[in-house]
Amino acid sequence: PWSASRAAEIIAEHRHMDGATMPILHAVQETFGFVPDPVVPMIAESLNLSRAEVYGVVTFYHDFRREPPGRHVIKLCAAEACQSMGSEKLARYAEERLGIEMGETSPDGKVTLEPIYCLGLCACAPSAMIDGRLVGRLDEATIDELVAEAGQ
Ligand code: FES
Repeated sequence: PWSASRAAEIIAEHRHMDGATMPILHAVQETFGFVPDPVVPMIAESLNLSRAEVYGVVTFYHDFRREPPGRHVIKLCAAEACQSMGSEKLARYAEERLGIEMGETSPDGKVTLEPIYCLGLCACAPSAMIDGRLVGRLDEATIDELVAEAGQ
């Protein structure tokens, strides 16, 4: 669970950096797994920005989550090399298997499915990352395994 006091500490640690918004948001997400909505006005106030400006940054970058992630996070690469190897079809397959769409978390909180933009594993495209572990040469069978691993 996130805490406002921990968020305030993180903001205080980074607020004097140039362009502190991004480092603060990254540190908040690293600590809590997502960027809780109430942290946005805290950041805005501390950096003398409007809430809309900070929200703009949070929503512009695909990296930031607005909701707590599931216990397992499956990131499917959606960048070019993987796309040319059929990643989109695999993404649709994963959505179907999990009953959620890209960017969503299953209602039981077990799995989050997210796109990611190049994992540096283009030679083994299509690729994915599950709970921080890189997986290459993804196919439907591998997705079935990932889904089973994630406890679905
Ligand atoms: Fe998917 Fe590089 S494009 S790993």
